[in-house]
Amino acid sequence: MNLDLATTYMGLELANPLVASSSPMCDKVARLQRLEEAGIAAVVLPSLFEEQFDLESWSLHESLMAGTDSYAEALSYLPELPACPLGPHRYLNAVESARAALSIPVIASLNGASPTGWVRFAKDAESAGASALELNVYYIPANPDMPSSAVEQRYVDLVALVRSAVKIPLAVKVGPWFSSPGHLFRRLSDAGANAIVLFNRFYQPEFDLEKLEVVPTITLSTPEELRMRLRWVAMLHGRIGADLAITGGVHRGRDVLGCMMAGARVAMMASALLQHGPGHVTTILSDIREWMGENEYQSIRQMQGCLSQQVCPDPAAFERANYLKVLGAYTLSG
Ligand SMILES: Cc1cc2nc3c(=O)[nH]c(=O)nc-3n(C[C@H](O)[C@H](O)[C@H](O)COP(=O)(O)O)c2cc1C
Repeated sequence: MNLDLATTYMGLELANPLVASSSPMCDKVARLQRLEEAGIAAVVLPSLFEEQFDLESWSLHESLMAGTDSYAEALSYLPELPACPLGPHRYLNAVESARAALSIPVIASLNGASPTGWVRFAKDAESAGASALELNVYYIPANPDMPSSAVEQRYVDLVALVRSAVKIPLAVKVGPWFSSPGHLFRRLSDAGANAIVLFNRFYQPEFDLEKLEVVPTITLSTPEELRMRLRWVAMLHGRIGADLAITGGVHRGRDVLGCMMAGARVAMMASALLQHGPGHVTTILSDIREWMGENEYQSIRQMQGCLSQQVCPDPAAFERANYLKVLGAYTLSG
């Protein structure tokens, strides 16, 4: 059977819904080429961090670091900046090289929380040939004086600012912890975001009780983490202008199929590629084809949103009903 795996994402025509999420897997042209050969449809480059393109932020970082010496237990909350060797100029070179070496879309990624420097970099990334831009707003609202409306406004302002500077498609990668995520995502869409990427993983620090230290740790994801993403995409599909993308917990062919059925345009992968290498893309695509053949699906588009709650008049009530159902179904033996 002739299976059509094509999808569109922010207006980009993709051969299939598999995108390599921002991670060290995408930091070298040779690896990007291996991903393309294996069948990946688009790649997101590792982020350029706000702290790497702004001198003021560097000084701020240094002064924060200086301050932490008096608080041993807080020291590791402010680690050295990520070991990304690329400053803005080298980053833009990396965008250019990736574009020259690949025929699939190359999405540049900016990671930050304040407007500093984003506009200049966004313009430069566009000039360097980035097919699109992903903004990773990594911000922990730790200040109890800051109301949620101010936190959300920060996101909206960032998107509006970057949108006014570039014409290329713009995705925003966000975390799940908002009082009304759908409302914020719609505002981001109205401010010019072409896609919302659900959800950022916030790395949780561990407490080392012996050394009395807070240790930042990176753990790779498991497919369990996908469930929360599927649920939110299923609830929001068709209710927000921007495309929805899933990142977090996509490891297998069935995970990608689930993302499509929930209503996502693409499924992004980082952990699974870091664990299994670029060749894993070929395995996943072959599993997807096999499943589609067995279940008589001809195209990915045909299944996108089929398990969403688009036609459900009140998803909140539906969710509550399901909550009661699962609690009621739990039986204790003995
Ligand atoms: C080692 C590592 C580095 C990452 N670097 C970035 C980054 O630079 N920018 C970014 O937006 N996300 C980054 N991420 C997050 C991933 O892009 C992805 O959103 C997250 O890992 C969840 O997807 P997964 O379950 O497929 O790993 C990184 C993840 C890992 C594991």
